[in-house]
Amino acid sequence: MADGAELFRWPEEGVRRAPFLVYSDPAVYEAEMSRIFRGRIWHYLGLEIEIPSPGDYRLMDVGDTPVIMLRRHDGGISALVNRCAHKGTMLLYEPSGHVDELMCIYHNWLYDFEGNLRNVPFAKGINGKGGLGPEFRHCDHGLDRLRVETVNGLVFGTFSANVEPLRDYLGVELMHNFERVACREFRVLGYYSQYLDSNWKLYFENASDPYHATILHAWATRLKLNRFTMEGAIEMGRGGWNHLSWSRMLTDSGGEIYDSAEFRSGGAALDGFGLHDPSVIEQWDEHGDGITTAIQTAFPNFVLQQIHNTIATRVLIPRGVGGSELLWTVLGYADDEDWQTDIRLKQGNLIGPAGYISMEDGMVGSLVQRGVRRDGDKASVMELDGDSIETIVGSRASECGVRGFYTAYRELMEV
Ligand SMILES: [Fe+2]
Repeated sequence: MADGAELFRWPEEGVRRAPFLVYSDPAVYEAEMSRIFRGRIWHYLGLEIEIPSPGDYRLMDVGDTPVIMLRRHDGGISALVNRCAHKGTMLLYEPSGHVDELMCIYHNWLYDFEGNLRNVPFAKGINGKGGLGPEFRHCDHGLDRLRVETVNGLVFGTFSANVEPLRDYLGVELMHNFERVACREFRVLGYYSQYLDSNWKLYFENASDPYHATILHAWATRLKLNRFTMEGAIEMGRGGWNHLSWSRMLTDSGGEIYDSAEFRSGGAALDGFGLHDPSVIEQWDEHGDGITTAIQTAFPNFVLQQIHNTIATRVLIPRGVGGSELLWTVLGYADDEDWQTDIRLKQGNLIGPAGYISMEDGMVGSLVQRGVRRDGDKASVMELDGDSIETIVGSRASECGVRGFYTAYRELMEV
């Protein structure tokens, strides 16, 4: 593989720039699949509660490698590459389910839940003819494995032998929000996936970018759900690799700037805008801290979301250089009462791809993708708050989250 400098040269302004070719160059995409997704990262696989019993599984793609997350008989969790050692066939293809054994449909090679090869049909041939030679050893032909660690019921896997422990990777500075959101056993309320016509990094920039959140989503600004003039912060973890942005809706001061003609939220297009059914934004202060939005990311592609009373995990899967897929798991807590579940599901309409927020985020990524494809030597400009990748409290007028993402990206890509 070419080293990073042979792939391309990063602009001299550093992470205040992202060169447009990273969204459209197939060679860069190929390098990302190996250097990032096979590299020194932890990748979200799912929730422990999704696979409670031995044989329960969920599928995930780590970059472009299919992976099985599987509950073993000893109670542990295996993460196995979803690929038979014989011909490379995917062993499982339903997104989730239960199996009593891991048997390939193609030639019925059989594996245990640790990924060890247990049986090869016709290994001894028929009537002493054919079959495997004496040199074939089952132990040489198991499934490839990922290392697994969990934090508060969230399961992560890695191909790396030397990435640091998961908690350190996620950022000890940010663990307080993991503890806060994953404070009790979750209950899955539903799943959906959203196909994005944009390179995977464009969505992840968006999720790391509170700057857009009160501007692009003008209706939410108009409804005073999220404004920079509220109390809030962007907290950075692990030297910029991961971020948490939060705000307290009821602390807004000076928000009239959003009603000015400098913003779409103040423009005539939204005159008279309001909700016919305000119950869609009804909420309660779940954690007693008044925080109404908390978006946390883990490099390269994981989001833990709390917006009002909606909780979700999002994991972003690259689908070729110009596309990506966002997998959502919508959550409540196991001990929720029905009225709480009702509120979570109703508010989910504000955020998911059939609602507003994620529809807008998906669309704007595709506008960037279409805008930049012919000019890979040009670059985006991310100068809000200089070149800081540090925590900022009292203001969120910073692009530190996106610069932090590219700090990690450059380190792993060696560019
Ligand atoms: Fe957004």
